[in-house]
Amino acid sequence: MIVLFLACQGDKDPDIETATYHQDIAPIMASNCISCHREGGSGPFSLESYENVKALSGMIEDSVVNRRMPPFHANNSGECQDFSESPWLSDDEVSKISYWAQNDTPEGEYKEISLPSFEEEPFDTTHSVTFAPYEASFATSSDDYRCFIVDPQVEQESYLTGFEVLPSNRAIAHHMILYAPLGEQALQQAYALDAADPGIGYSCYGGPGVDNRMIAPWAPGSDQWFYPTDTGVRMATGQMLILQMHYSNASEETLDSTTVNLNIQETIGTELSTDFYVNSDIEIPPNKNEHVETLKRSVRSFSGLDVPLLVHAIGPHLHKLGISSSAKIIRGNNEECMIDVPHYDFNWQRVYTFEEPIVLQPEDKLEIECVFDSSDIANTTYWGDGTNDEMCLMTVFASPL
Ligand code: HEC
Repeated sequence: MIVLFLACQGDKDPDIETATYHQDIAPIMASNCISCHREGGSGPFSLESYENVKALSGMIEDSVVNRRMPPFHANNSGECQDFSESPWLSDDEVSKISYWAQNDTPEGEYKEISLPSFEEEPFDTTHSVTFAPYEASFATSSDDYRCFIVDPQVEQESYLTGFEVLPSNRAIAHHMILYAPLGEQALQQAYALDAADPGIGYSCYGGPGVDNRMIAPWAPGSDQWFYPTDTGVRMATGQMLILQMHYSNASEETLDSTTVNLNIQETIGTELSTDFYVNSDIEIPPNKNEHVETLKRSVRSFSGLDVPLLVHAIGPHLHKLGISSSAKIIRGNNEECMIDVPHYDFNWQRVYTFEEPIVLQPEDKLEIECVFDSSDIANTTYWGDGTNDEMCLMTVFASPL
């Protein structure tokens, strides 16, 4: 035992053991955390000073070791594709934070570090949607999911190329998703849900509750989101949208009115499709801490298209029992990891953009896996939109080749 202990000690990287705040920790915070964790940022506290980082070091260590923070949950270590704008701490950085937090958080000698600019370019707004101030309600839960039917006033068939999300109350706005209802019937169903729910908008948990395409996902970090260059998502003439807000109870001030600015163009190079690759046949028995659901099918049967696809971005969607999710591409005898989200978090609904888009042939197979923890649940859980239901799907942004 003693020999083993000494051997482990000897293996420690001297770089890790000498880590100080100014030399090692502050630069990691600057590149990965303070885009949100700064005065006026979307994070609940600032990580800009030694005093703050020291005071929160235990929590910070736990959040990075368990990879909850930074809140980009697709494995971006290089083992499974490369995702753009998705920071991923290296194992070395995690070890440094961990060792430093557990060993007296030394300050070290002051060193100037240059901070990236967090100012965004002005957004080129052509259309805009918003809703009247809504009072988020946390009476029965610490989360409120609210859907608002909005009219971007699209006068002719055109394409959404990017958007900018401006919540009036950033302290409670946790995420926003824009959905396009699929057809007139779905829109009428959404109006009925709205009419049946008092107040502005209607309560909606896992999605808008009607057939839809997900067209625009947003989570705090950056206000603007653009589809790949020269692509866009089709908007029909008169296209109505459903704007879903997820509010979380982090402030006394519970009123919000979010504005979403849109850039809509009449012509683009390639139309992007946004499809759900779904495993709706799920049945999660109660009291299981790791229940796995998988679905393996051809790309053709997911996309409904008989042409190769260029996949730009992908994001898993499970509900609160979801603990991890992944997708594999099977080409003949070869398997390739497409996305791996080892710690899924329903509170951070993200779509991850590939550094290099992936080509899928119609005959390639995709295997989607979703893992659920039902250890606190007394009944079998099935597919559905509600708080007691689950989902297992991948939102896929692709263009036909
Ligand atoms: C994209 C914005 C964003 C970035 C980048 C980010 N955070 Fe956070 N962080 C948040 C928000 C918002 C919360 C509020 C609670 C939540 O959603 O988990 C939070 C919560 C936390 C918490 C408390 C909750 C928990 O999970 O322990 C810690 C600790 C934390 N962040 C540390 C960090 C560290 C360390 C980094 C960088 C390595 C980082 N964060 C990067 C937005 C961010």
